[in-house]
Amino acid sequence: MTEPTDGTGRRIYTNRTLNLRALRAIGYDMDYTLIHYRVKEWESLAYRYVKERLLKRGWPVESMEFEPDRFIRGLMIDTELGNIVKANRFGYPKRATHGTRVLGFDELRSAYARQMVELSDPRFRFLNTLFSLSEACWFSQLVDCLDEGQLSGVRDYRDLSHLLRFEVDEAHVEGRLKAEIVAHPEKFVELDPDTALALLDQKRAGKKLMLITNSEWSYTQAMMQYAFDPFLTGMTWQALFDLIIVDAQKPAFFTATNPIYEVVSAEGLLRTVRRPVELGKVYQGGHVALIEEGLGCSGDDILYVGDHLFGDVQVSKRIQRWRTALVLRELEHEVEEVSSFYDAQKTLEALMGEKEAMEQQSAQLRLKLQRIQGGYGPRASQSEEELRDEMAALRDRLQHLDVQIAPLAKAVGTISNPYWGQLMRTGNDKSQLARQVERYADVYMSRVSNFLGPTPFAYLRSSRGSLPHDPLIGDP
Ligand code: IMP
Ligand code: MG
Repeated sequence: MTEPTDGTGRRIYTNRTLNLRALRAIGYDMDYTLIHYRVKEWESLAYRYVKERLLKRGWPVESMEFEPDRFIRGLMIDTELGNIVKANRFGYPKRATHGTRVLGFDELRSAYARQMVELSDPRFRFLNTLFSLSEACWFSQLVDCLDEGQLSGVRDYRDLSHLLRFEVDEAHVEGRLKAEIVAHPEKFVELDPDTALALLDQKRAGKKLMLITNSEWSYTQAMMQYAFDPFLTGMTWQALFDLIIVDAQKPAFFTATNPIYEVVSAEGLLRTVRRPVELGKVYQGGHVALIEEGLGCSGDDILYVGDHLFGDVQVSKRIQRWRTALVLRELEHEVEEVSSFYDAQKTLEALMGEKEAMEQQSAQLRLKLQRIQGGYGPRASQSEEELRDEMAALRDRLQHLDVQIAPLAKAVGTISNPYWGQLMRTGNDKSQLARQVERYADVYMSRVSNFLGPTPFAYLRSSRGSLPHDPLIGDP
């Protein structure tokens, strides 16, 4: 068993203090939470099924290919301008592409001079999960086609985004895509032998465990069997859970009152439910109130663990006040890259510190000059000429410093992804994704088996956090 250590991204990161011991129930999402897929393989397949459908529309997409690294979770599709945007925590766009072309600094500024990127604005669509990557790739490629006048009948980018959404949706629900995954799970699933043990620890510690997935019963059964049964002795995956809800239709599961059915056979035969939800059974659909009633607990007694920022984490927190955990597998790669960049980052920070001090010096000299010329304020000890000489010398040194800073800053900006940089940062600031994570996820982690480290009895404490006016460490 791999021992989770620092520098590998294998910890539980805490936004809000969470006492695991006090939890009475833990719900798990399945896809990209309990089961991790090889993103490139899964999304390439989804891309291929969407391509089939687009070709039937007569669109010229035969030669197009999925580019797995081209987009990342947490970006926004701008359905009005045909752009894909990465914004900072305040909603200011910091990087963008139009179609497949990266926007220059001036283009970005003028496109968004009066426009913040708001999640609540239907103009923007957030890439909430790793299932969104093939759709983002298609959107960017089809925007290029539309700009070249190759998509007859498509009015604008908004129209294009609706049509594409429909086709992606259909590809997911139609059945052939999932049948291919079920036939060859070894090609698509990245097994984690430790996940079953982490769940067993929680179950034996007295927590009620639930599986709440949007996947249908046949797919859930096949995938869970493949991913869990080899790592359990004397039991099957179903026995891990006190309640199993398939076809949950999240986010509506957390916000509406969908009907519930009991799944009464392995083939998925359904029966209408008249009694309260009973533990040990499998259900399809339903909603939170039924589940809380069946469990005999509610609100912050329950932790829900999922990968979909909106459907799993935001609504369960905002509407139900459940405790929440977000799974972000990309963190492992990101933390590794950031660690390997540690020395360069330190050098960059030192150079930026020098630059800031010089800029401050330069501003002081300029003010002295202004006061001499204006004949007001305290008199400087230097003459006008001396001040000008000093300013020129500083300018030279600053230019020299910039030559050293530029390649380092560029390299830092491409950590984790060459186009978009880090998931949780935009430059020195937090990204819009990071803001969503800190708002709605009490804790976050790269994978469920990271729970093994702290154990089901841990008290996860949030750090104090920093504020701009906090004294710097080392200050007197
Ligand atoms: P969960 O993450 O376990 O709740 O399940 C996610 C399910 O949603 C999987 O069965 C995916 O195939 C499916 N899914 C992902 N994206 C889409 C979509 O755009 N339309 C319909 N189903 C989707
Ligand atoms: Mg999921």
